[in-house]
Amino acid sequence: MRTIAFMNQKGGVGKTTTTANLGAALAERGMRVCLIDLDPQAHLTINYGLDPKPEIISLYNVLVDEVPLKDAVHPVGDRLWLVPSSIDLAAAEVELVTVLGREMLLKNSLESAAASASLDYDFILMDCPPSLGLLTINALCAAGEVIIPMQPQFLALQGVAKLLETVQLVNRRMNPRLKVTGIALTMYDSQTKLTTEVVNELTSFISAAQGKTLPWSGAKVFASKIRRNIKLAESPGFGQTILKYDPASNGAADYRALAAEIAGMAEQNKPAETVAMTVG
Ligand SMILES: Nc1ncnc2c1ncn2[C@@H]1O[C@H](COP(=O)(O)OP(=O)(O)O)[C@@H](O)[C@H]1O
Ligand SMILES: [Mg+2]
Repeated sequence: MRTIAFMNQKGGVGKTTTTANLGAALAERGMRVCLIDLDPQAHLTINYGLDPKPEIISLYNVLVDEVPLKDAVHPVGDRLWLVPSSIDLAAAEVELVTVLGREMLLKNSLESAAASASLDYDFILMDCPPSLGLLTINALCAAGEVIIPMQPQFLALQGVAKLLETVQLVNRRMNPRLKVTGIALTMYDSQTKLTTEVVNELTSFISAAQGKTLPWSGAKVFASKIRRNIKLAESPGFGQTILKYDPASNGAADYRALAAEIAGMAEQNKPAETVAMTVG
């Protein structure tokens, strides 16, 4: 099972769109996918046609009331499940201030679910809020991987430095297995010179870390770019993913390609064991 946090403290960069549609594309490939909405704005929840009213059993109940994760998991499609957000999740950061080990609440909940054999997924995808607060830290403590959705814009790298600092902090103090898998470029427009410059800058920043022991030493800028596509902006309004709303759109094609690339990396990660066995 791979647990991936989609993180960027900047809003409007495509975190939710990527979590929603990559999740659907992985499920279409036959994977069992559980999505977790950590953003009190609940856009992922709404994108899947659920109402983030306080009555829904949500992530808030998991974190604050210690409700078992399985009770908050809602089926939203073939091989697709969602732990919704709700409007009261915004209060959770404040309510949990005095709780010891508050950074580990989601991690502990996933571990309890795993222990009771109710965590049967190939992928858990976590949609983070646009901040580096307690909810994002909970995602980073529970995750094995971070994927950074990013729009190739001027000064895009500035925000990434701060983000990676947070990942490194969590990696050192709380979650030594945490790694940055890659950067997913969203709202991509290959025509512009600026895009090319930002992508080059990003690629050299990432390759400068290779061989070092940093959480992003093995990261890459994904080859599959998500082009700007109006259908991706329209589909949430219909409570649908792009694969349902317009399966022939560029948006659907791009998220299918990204899903293939990311699913393929699981195979790449595995050979370490295979190689060890053949050598031995
Ligand atoms: N590739 C894309 N093409 C066009 N619009 C997009 C694309 N990706 C995201 N959007 C739109 O941009 C806005 C911000 O995206 P969103 O995924 O909500 O960002 P975040 O979760 O990082 O705040 C939304 O209105 C979304 O529909
Ligand atoms: Mg969002």
